[in-house]
Amino acid sequence: MKDSCDSMGEQKAQGPVQTERIRFGAPRRYLINIDSISTSQLFADCVIVGAGIAGLRAALEAADRRNVIVVCKASLEDSNTWMAQGGIASVLRPDDSFESHIADTLRTGCGLSEPDTVEQVVRQGPELVRQLQDWGAGFDRVNDEIDTTLEGGHSHARVLHAHGDETGRAIAEALIARVKNQPNIRVIEHFFTIDLLTDPDNRCAGIIGRCQNRGLQIIWAATTILATGGGGQLYRETTNPPIATADGLALAYRAGAVLRDLEFVQFHPTTLYVAGASRALITETLRGEGAYLLDMKGRRFMKDYHESGELAPRDVVSRAILAQMRKTESTHVYLDVRHLDKEYFARRFPLISDLCESFDIDVTHDLIPVRPSAHYMVGGVKTDTAARTSIENLYACGEVASTGLHGANRLGSNSLLEGLVFGQMAGHAVVQRPPMDVTSLQHPAIRYQVPNSDRSRLDASDVRNSLRSLMWRNVGITRKAQPLAEAQEIIRFWDRYVMDKVFDTPEGWECQNMLTAALLIAHAASLRKESRGVHYRMDHTQTDDKHYHKHIEIVRAE
Ligand code: FUM
Repeated sequence: MKDSCDSMGEQKAQGPVQTERIRFGAPRRYLINIDSISTSQLFADCVIVGAGIAGLRAALEAADRRNVIVVCKASLEDSNTWMAQGGIASVLRPDDSFESHIADTLRTGCGLSEPDTVEQVVRQGPELVRQLQDWGAGFDRVNDEIDTTLEGGHSHARVLHAHGDETGRAIAEALIARVKNQPNIRVIEHFFTIDLLTDPDNRCAGIIGRCQNRGLQIIWAATTILATGGGGQLYRETTNPPIATADGLALAYRAGAVLRDLEFVQFHPTTLYVAGASRALITETLRGEGAYLLDMKGRRFMKDYHESGELAPRDVVSRAILAQMRKTESTHVYLDVRHLDKEYFARRFPLISDLCESFDIDVTHDLIPVRPSAHYMVGGVKTDTAARTSIENLYACGEVASTGLHGANRLGSNSLLEGLVFGQMAGHAVVQRPPMDVTSLQHPAIRYQVPNSDRSRLDASDVRNSLRSLMWRNVGITRKAQPLAEAQEIIRFWDRYVMDKVFDTPEGWECQNMLTAALLIAHAASLRKESRGVHYRMDHTQTDDKHYHKHIEIVRAE
């Protein structure tokens, strides 16, 4: 099986990446009726939507000189960051180099990474990672040196981890503790952000959302930072928590922000597969530490597909697993860790040990059933190298953003690093701006009325489940023109009955956001008639640099 990046990494030879911008229709600017004068109001220098690594790091930086409100739709502990296992990639060992990490990131990005962004993230990484360590994220050490692991696509072992496979939790806990001690930061949990507010000149003026305790609320803010994370829940099979419903993409789109490279959705090769149970990530670092992939017949198959075997790039491993599942007519393959030292395994992977135990899988004797699932949105809200989006006063960082780091594919463990670096930059941008009287933002008032609709009401949870199956089947690991066209047609049908309503619960708004994001992803995937990075077209299996060495950007049509 061809490496998705075999012909890539030669970005210089290909010249700069081109851009194609599509205007794509959306009838609604806001999801609800708004009368800003009669809605409860708060004011802040900066409002941050989302509390993963990017949002929290941005808050700490901005709070140095500004007052900050952080809102998150569940509790502070509910984030993709908290669930991250493998680690955070950064150059902290003397035998590694910035050049090597930059080259690996560019090669994996398959010609669509922005070299300036890659340089910036890789070079700023170590200092910010050390700072995280000083703040209490205790990265694991051996013989008094930082311990690092290999992941697919990295040419050096540079993935730092904490408490074995509880890296995300260790980072989140350190940031949360610091945020709670910072008097300039107010955190509002269980606040569902419904929309970004924009003034008549389309500058962002804050957000409107529903607070579980206080109802509808506007937060006027001089700057707004989107750090809402990803949208794995768009797919039936995902490693992401239930909150990952692509809200940030949808609300940025409604506000008119430029979205970029949405067709690139990364699937993680190994998610625990126990029929009936929700999927759970089995970290790639397990393969980095020597785990094998076996098919139903107990055969190690990865070398049939790629010379790097189990440590081939993620997209290759995911497609190889799918192909092997088809060949052996099975629903999954297996991870084999029986040959690894038992005590070491339990110490290095406590989360996975507990997870397996909870399903009566004894890793010393049993194989771990796994299959791929949706993991990471590579594209997102387009930013520049200072985290600025195309909308004035609006910044984005973390998974919701398309900063240019990942290109067409993300190198494992580069996402926590990106969230950390771009979170810091977004927060820094906030303090660089001259202070303003934020109470002036409430004028002129915002009024918006959704037209009445007589169409019948569909059951939102039914639509959501059907959408997730449709995305998995038609816009999944491998894609083709006809299923992509069908997916768009079906989503547009649901749209007619769901997007014309005004909901008053997060479930309804999430369903609307998921339909919006899913349609954008399916549309972008249909436009890219080539295979590149994580986007694999069965009807266009080659990379076509002549026509597609470009970003596809989507903006809401007025
Ligand atoms: O396999 C993992 O632990 C995932 C890491 C990542 O997505 O960066």
